[in-house]
Amino acid sequence: MNEAIEAHLQETRTVPPPEAFVRAARVADRSLHEEAEADFEGFWMRRALTEISWYREPTESLDASNPPFFTWFKDGELNLTYNCLDRHVEAGGGGKTAFTWIGEPGEERVISYAELLAEVERAASALKALGVGKGDRVAIYLGMVPELPVAMLACARIGAIHSVVFGGFSATALADRIQDATCRLVITADGAWRKGAIIPLKDIADEAVAQCPSVEHVLVVRRTEQDVAWHDRDTWWHEAMAEADPRCEPERMNAEDPLFMLYTSGTTAKPKGILHTSGGYLLGAILSHRWVFDIRADDVYWCTADCGWVTGHTYVVYGPLANHATGILYEGTPEYPTWERHWEIVDRHKVTIYYTAPTAIRALIKAGEAAVQMYDTSSLRLLGTVGEPINPEAWIWYHEHVGGGRCPIVDTWWQTETGSVVLSPLPGLSTTKPGSAIGPLPGMKPVIVDERGNPVPIGGGGYLTLQRPWPSMLRTIWGDDQRFVDTYWSRFGPTVYFTGDGARTDDDGDIWLLGRVDDVINVAGHRISTTEIESSLVGHPAVAEAAAIGAHDEIKGEHIAAFVILRDGNEPTDELRGELAQHVAVGIGKFAKPSLLLFAPDLPKTRSGKIMRRLLKDIAEGRELGDATTLRDPAIVEAIKADADRQLGRA
Ligand code: PRX
Repeated sequence: MNEAIEAHLQETRTVPPPEAFVRAARVADRSLHEEAEADFEGFWMRRALTEISWYREPTESLDASNPPFFTWFKDGELNLTYNCLDRHVEAGGGGKTAFTWIGEPGEERVISYAELLAEVERAASALKALGVGKGDRVAIYLGMVPELPVAMLACARIGAIHSVVFGGFSATALADRIQDATCRLVITADGAWRKGAIIPLKDIADEAVAQCPSVEHVLVVRRTEQDVAWHDRDTWWHEAMAEADPRCEPERMNAEDPLFMLYTSGTTAKPKGILHTSGGYLLGAILSHRWVFDIRADDVYWCTADCGWVTGHTYVVYGPLANHATGILYEGTPEYPTWERHWEIVDRHKVTIYYTAPTAIRALIKAGEAAVQMYDTSSLRLLGTVGEPINPEAWIWYHEHVGGGRCPIVDTWWQTETGSVVLSPLPGLSTTKPGSAIGPLPGMKPVIVDERGNPVPIGGGGYLTLQRPWPSMLRTIWGDDQRFVDTYWSRFGPTVYFTGDGARTDDDGDIWLLGRVDDVINVAGHRISTTEIESSLVGHPAVAEAAAIGAHDEIKGEHIAAFVILRDGNEPTDELRGELAQHVAVGIGKFAKPSLLLFAPDLPKTRSGKIMRRLLKDIAEGRELGDATTLRDPAIVEAIKADADRQLGRA
């Protein structure tokens, strides 16, 4: 970054939109915001009609007659894949690259829109041949191979509801999700490449499916080519594709028919299947992708997210494809085989837009800027972040060393539940500030409120709420309307969506996210509830009670610290420590494994029996202990702290 910008940044901590950007930006003034403020229902309706190709055009925008069960465009009919694929091919854009896929071992495959459509049609026919139809649920448990978006789109083509489960989840976690959705089909692979090793996806899926009577078939992609066990219910993907009808007409779907569910963590041990429908979700994906990323015909756009998370749904698959963009699909992680991997890909493919998570940026910082400097990243014109608050230091490093001081950074705040970005700077319009998500996209209405639901004045902090329905909002939690109401629409009433995040505004009214206000931890951008970890731990025969918290972590944002009380007769050994951490990895997934596991004689509880997590956090982070006067037994914290200090070498 040139010195003038850096000095400016250090001094004022603001970066105006670059001139070159403002001149050509897709959104360069506030007229969209103003139009939406004047009449948000009309604003969305007009765009629904022009952005989406409908079989039957909707006549109604929002139906708010039964809050919080809002619906959008409810008499419209469409198919997502027609909008993502067919219409581009029909318009002569079939030769354009949809994805360049790069495998972790290094192979590459360029997939045009016409080729992607052909694959999706075959895969959709293959699903039909296995008896899958409209409304059926399909679990997808794959690494980042081209078959992952193909499988998602094949479901959408026939109206089946996909539930993608991230390849890092364990057999138990996969089984829970398959059972909750009563999936008929599971699509998996023999394995997935992960840092040079094979994750045996098929073995894990077999273990899960053994507990899932609803599953009739398992479709298996061949990727890692080791031998796998085979059952009557199994079919190879490539064989099914070879036999499948190459044509499959898209199913006419109602705008409010479910498109997918995606499980995410809430404050209880049971994950929630967040349900998204078709028309409103597509509109949110198309417009937010265009506004936020300023997407143009010649961009090479790379969102590094895995399709196992919502970012991969909206900003790898549906948004970019509906906008006829060219994307990079990468199988691996940023550190393998070396930390230069991403920059080498940016250089070789002349990537123009790069969208990743703060945790990856912090890890890349640790690896040093020499890795970036080895490659030419001058093709980049826009950078983005998502998933957790980005600390200003990481923002500035990203801006300087990756963006060469010339690329705007869009810090996008949103959730699995919101379906698409809610808060973000717009690259040709907003003056950015390192660490701030700035403000709402057109049509969105964030309001920061206090305990009682009253808006806090500018400069203040509180709970982030969204006070106006938006098209890509979740419609419910699969099979549990009551939980949907209780979780999101009860705290401040049935028309105020409670995000679970804290936020504040600065004197300019720009929004800064402060992290979760509930018992949800965000580890490297992955949401995990403390209760999920605790219930996994108490499922081990040696454990009587457990408390888990998120403690500050330089790279991952938060790491998991667990405090465990053993049942009588068990010794607090290092071996048991390892065994318990492994138990969580098997129960939930490796990413949920506590990095600090402490044995406690008891947990610090108030006289009314509530665990004082704040004190546990102080202990895990090695701070002076806060006020412990309300504790039932103040000696407990000292005992836990002694174990913590021993383990962390702080004695
Ligand atoms: O706490 C917020 C954090 O991630 C949560 C949503 O997680 P998930 O549903 O997994 O979706 C992640 C990708 C959209 C939010 O409640 N979060 C997400 N983006 C940001 C963020 N926190 C601060 N800044 C962000 N840009």
